[in-house]
Amino acid sequence: MSYDEFYVKSVIRSLPDWPEPGVIFRDVTPIFKDPRATRMVADAFIQRYINSEISHIACIDARGFLFGSILAHQLNLPLVLVRKKGKLPGDTIHQEYQLEYGSAAVEMQTDSVGQGDKVLIFDDLIATGGTILAACTLIKKLGAEVIEAAALIDLPDLQGSARIQEAGVPVYTLIAYE
Ligand code: PRP
Ligand code: ADE
Repeated sequence: MSYDEFYVKSVIRSLPDWPEPGVIFRDVTPIFKDPRATRMVADAFIQRYINSEISHIACIDARGFLFGSILAHQLNLPLVLVRKKGKLPGDTIHQEYQLEYGSAAVEMQTDSVGQGDKVLIFDDLIATGGTILAACTLIKKLGAEVIEAAALIDLPDLQGSARIQEAGVPVYTLIAYE
């Protein structure tokens, strides 16, 4: 289905002052109530990555799981999880980071990716870039290469996508909110 940015943007809900004053929360949940919007977004990412060198998709807890799993299924690629700390069983490594609101840590299982793997990181939104940069650190620590970081939404004013690119990781997003 051909991608219509105007339509997808009309489906995303913007909530001022949530979860705290000054933040405009960009809510992607209505996309998943709208199969047309879901398919448009999924197809846009599938087109981008269908003939790529990517070997694994690493999707980020929790909203990154939604499109991440659709993409992994459609591209027939392994899906690995970057979770908030304390959720994954077995041997794990973690990395702390700052959010637009607060701080957190993400974690991966040590056997999720390794030497020779070419990883696409997927999340719903890039704000400060802290989450994706923390995921990059973990993936590189495990010996794999980050090929690109993709997200549906970029908030360029918070300079996250610029920080990720300065770290040497290309960024691909579909929608920007200035
Ligand atoms: C949101 C969003 C990204 C992250 C972006 O997740 O889904 O993962 O923040 O912010 P950053 O670029 O400043 O790191 P959140 O931590 O709110 O968790 P959730 O997906 O579980 O709601
Ligand atoms: N994560 C960090 N900042 C956000 C925002 N403004 N909207 C939705 N998710 C976010």
